[in-house]
Amino acid sequence: MAIHGTMMRFDVAGFHYPEHYLWLSVTVETHSCFLRCTGAVRCRRQVQTLEIRLPSGSVAVEVPPMTYKQVVIRSAGGSDRLEFESLASLPPELEGPTPEGCVDIRVLRSGVNFADTAVRQGLYASAKKYEGVNGTGFPIVPGFEVAGEVVGVGEGVSGRTVGEQVLAVSRFKCYASRLRVASHLVFSIPKGWNLSEAAGLPAAALTAAYALELGDVWPRKDHRDRSKRLLVHSAAGGVGSFLVQLAKAQGHFVVGIVGRQSKRELVQSFNADVVIHKEGNPKWKAEAVEAAGAPLVPGERSGYDAIFDANGVSTLSWSFENLGPCGRLVVYGFHSMLPKSGSVWASRSCCSVLYWLYLAYNYLRTPAFNPLDMTASNRSVMAFNLSFLFDFEVHKFVARFENILKLANEGKLKTPPVRVFPAPEARSAHDVLESGNSVGKLVLEFE
Ligand SMILES: NC(=O)c1ccc[n+]([C@@H]2O[C@H](COP(=O)([O-])OP(=O)(O)OC[C@H]3O[C@@H](n4cnc5c(N)ncnc54)[C@H](OP(=O)(O)O)[C@@H]3O)[C@@H](O)[C@H]2O)c1
Repeated sequence: MAIHGTMMRFDVAGFHYPEHYLWLSVTVETHSCFLRCTGAVRCRRQVQTLEIRLPSGSVAVEVPPMTYKQVVIRSAGGSDRLEFESLASLPPELEGPTPEGCVDIRVLRSGVNFADTAVRQGLYASAKKYEGVNGTGFPIVPGFEVAGEVVGVGEGVSGRTVGEQVLAVSRFKCYASRLRVASHLVFSIPKGWNLSEAAGLPAAALTAAYALELGDVWPRKDHRDRSKRLLVHSAAGGVGSFLVQLAKAQGHFVVGIVGRQSKRELVQSFNADVVIHKEGNPKWKAEAVEAAGAPLVPGERSGYDAIFDANGVSTLSWSFENLGPCGRLVVYGFHSMLPKSGSVWASRSCCSVLYWLYLAYNYLRTPAFNPLDMTASNRSVMAFNLSFLFDFEVHKFVARFENILKLANEGKLKTPPVRVFPAPEARSAHDVLESGNSVGKLVLEFE
């Protein structure tokens, strides 16, 4: 690279499009000035070098060859169905200039969620509805969240600039090195959060916020309201970490339940009032009942104002039984319906009889709640899946996330621990998440 004048640093990020567009993001830093510019250049053929003229002379830069990386799933199965691919060009839907109202992001980190493992197993209804062919949900590039660098801004988008680091939410397509997304789903990274932490924020925190809304505990309408008694299952996980913190930020009394004893410390660090572990602790249920405290009205039943349960079959009935008057059971997942990775029931091919027996048995055991009981005991069951709500009341979705970002920027929301896996090792990330032993968030790194 020829360097003229007082130039200190010169970076070019170049991407070839099949129609010979080269999208440029150029950063020039000299002793006296800093310049960042972007643009699309039409080239007759793929170029390997590019000459850029500057007032101080000219510089020839090597254009890095275009590579697009993705983790794709072509059929249902175990973690071996995650295929990492490196392609020489972008898929057609990402080609060309950024469309109106959209932002193009060079993805550097992509969050891994438990839901992605259900997508991979062909058990995720919204994947079947929105992705793949013939209602199968395959092929699919999974993933709901990214952090990266803006490389293109469409007409009509304000407040976003090329080169800026952002986080974004998308219904699928996030396990890839490039994402094109509507601008209202792109947000600034909270102060002091790194890219990996940012990529792990939106899906889990938005799920937690919506669950708390259904539990009638967030945002608190009136600070004179009494603080409520809440119980959070899997409190050291991605969603669990944010449920505990958001509930504590509202001043509620929070009991966190975790599987392994080793997960307790993390939930304590989020200021949960009581933390109870299940493995090797046959008294965990009794401890959780006791933690709810005395009845609010003498003679009335004791119990929690809201219980947040994504376990499914293993705890749903118990959770419902332990609601107090007007209590709400918020159901948002069913992970205990699936075998843990490494267990005899889990199969890498997902075709084994044992796997299907396990699933069918747990499906049949999943409780149904009787409206007559609910009415008589003033207890309710609320349930949701955010991926069906993407296009629904977008302004509420954005407002909810802005509340979360505000707390993060004020230092009132801590990032849970984040474990980073290189994108080609996506299979290991799924294996770890399905083992039931992970804490916090898991993230894939794209170069
Ligand atoms: N409805 C929605 O819109 C929505 C959105 C996002 C996530 N979710 C759901 O929320 C739950 C949490 O998601 P996440 O991504 O934050 O995962 P996570 O909580 O970080 O990880 C899963 C945790 O669940 C527990 N677990 C219990 N049975 C398990 C099993 N058979 N296999 C694996 N883990 C098991 C384990 O914790 P303990 O042993 O400590 O309990 C494990 O660490 C999932 O069920 C997910 O599907 C729902």
